Amino acid sequence: MTSIIKTNSLTKIYGKKSSAFTALDNINLDIKQGESIAVVGKSGSGKSTLMHLLALLDSPSSGSVIINNVDSHKLSIKKMDLLRNQNFGFVFQQFFLSPHESVLDNVVLPLKIAGISRSERKKRGLEVLEAVDLADKSKDKAVNLSGGQKQRACIARALINNPTIIFADEPTGNLDSITGQMIENLLFQLNKDKNITLLIVTHDDDLANRCQRQIYIKDGSLIKEQ
Ligand SMILES: Nc1ncnc2c1ncn2[C@@H]1O[C@H](COP(=O)(O)OP(=O)(O)OP(=O)(O)O)[C@@H](O)[C@H]1O
Ligand SMILES: [Mg+2]
Repeated sequence: MTSIIKTNSLTKIYGKKSSAFTALDNINLDIKQGESIAVVGKSGSGKSTLMHLLALLDSPSSGSVIINNVDSHKLSIKKMDLLRNQNFGFVFQQFFLSPHESVLDNVVLPLKIAGISRSERKKRGLEVLEAVDLADKSKDKAVNLSGGQKQRACIARALINNPTIIFADEPTGNLDSITGQMIENLLFQLNKDKNITLLIVTHDDDLANRCQRQIYIKDGSLIKEQ
């Protein structure tokens, strides 16, 4: 299987000198295309930090993130933005939707950033909203959606660029169990049908066990992989 993301002694230290705090310590990972991986660990163990580094949203203190065999360190900011925009989808617990924009406008934002025409944006936006069963809400303001609908809108937005990998940080954390189940099913469906790699931070054992692989983080170190 092809590696999609590799890390080499990935380390993140927040702060300086006496206040320096090692949030991630020498993490080595090899993530293959099409895998589903759960990142598990206590609050404060470094899961979100790891996710942000892998998604090129933050830079490491030392070590490297290699995406499709390219050391991300060597990329210009512009290339990095492009890579993220074209290959990654994000589903975070805090939705990061613009509340007073329409659902459709929220969902097509990555396309707008990529300079895709308005008509194409609308076509693709409606397609992904259809996929998460939210097409009937396309014109509603995001603020008026329920929590589960907001989460589905985020998944639609994550899908808009046909990503090769979806990063999900506690995607079901704020949802009731039935809605959470629906979101989970949707993510695994995408994994199966489109071979989208899933990297999911979760405290939910059932969700973690549904993933092919589990990565356990403790105090910034990878303590177990299975
Ligand atoms: N910008 C920052 N500056 C200083 N310390 C930080 C910063 N961001 C995170 N940390 C610290 O790094 C550690 C790891 O944080 P991180 O957000 O990765 O934890 P987490 O495993 O995602 O926890 P949770 O399950 O609560 O979301 C924590 O101790 C946190 O306080
Ligand atoms: Mg976190």
